[in-house]
Amino acid sequence: MDKSDKRSGMETIRQVIYISQAIRPMKQEDIEELVATASHNNRQLGITGALLYIENSFVQVLEGEDAPITRLLATIESDPRHRNMRILSDRTIDFRNFEDWSMAYVKPDPQDSSIIISELQSTSSVGGDEDPIVMPLPHTFAMMQHLYETDATLQRARSNT
Ligand SMILES: Cc1cc2nc3c(=O)[nH]c(=O)nc-3n(C[C@H](O)[C@H](O)[C@H](O)COP(=O)(O)O)c2cc1C
Repeated sequence: MDKSDKRSGMETIRQVIYISQAIRPMKQEDIEELVATASHNNRQLGITGALLYIENSFVQVLEGEDAPITRLLATIESDPRHRNMRILSDRTIDFRNFEDWSMAYVKPDPQDSSIIISELQSTSSVGGDEDPIVMPLPHTFAMMQHLYETDATLQRARSNT
């Protein structure tokens, strides 16, 4: 992608947010391996985003051009490590929310975790094809962005260094 496009805001970016359930509990090292593969691949594809794993649920934000996002979603959906993938938001944005990260793995603190867990539980009772959710998980999304901006442990994984 052309850096100048990014700076002038000319990019048209598709951003997808989904949730899914791990088939079995993921160990820290399993997640790290997954994120390493994801970061490596996403960098080649011009895809950025963030991944959260909490109580066997994944929340992932993916941002990039339309075609690579469509292909990656198909790959991820067929991954045997999880199931019940549900797209909560699929929209076009002018600026990436996670522009420096090919895949940021965000780890909320315990206080934030309880808010996220209750928000995840509430998604099962709203939305659906007839009534799509426009911006789901507002707290979860805000926390992912906040951690992306502030978490020092993430600095080491920054994609453009
Ligand atoms: C929750 C979850 C999120 C994933 N996110 C990504 C991702 O962002 N990018 C990616 O390339 N693979 C991701 N994967 C892994 C893919 O499903 C697949 O295993 C991987 O792309 C294969 O890469 P490889 O052919 O280089 O081994 C994810 C898997 C899971 C379970």
